[in-house]
Amino acid sequence: MAQTEYIVIRAQEDGVNVIGLTRGNDTKFHHTEKLDKGEVMIAQFTEHTSAMKIRGKAEIHSAHGVVESEPKK
Ligand code: TRP
Repeated sequence: MAQTEYIVIRAQEDGVNVIGLTRGNDTKFHHTEKLDKGEVMIAQFTEHTSAMKIRGKAEIHSAHGVVESEPKK
């Protein structure tokens, strides 16, 4: 069951990747979504998704506040 909480990811550059990782014994990538600058993805943690990895420069809004990911230098 999906949680009621949503995570909002706003890309601040082209080519930001939002990667969903599986829940359970092994933690693997199961989905990659590519966002271009200004694009927003609204996502939940589900029975299939236990973690998300954000690659690239983005703003991540959640119940924990806003954090910024930074591009690799
Ligand atoms: N099929 C995935 C799921 O139900 C879709 C998904 C939910 C997802 N949250 C995500 C994919 C976060 C990537 C990142 O779990």
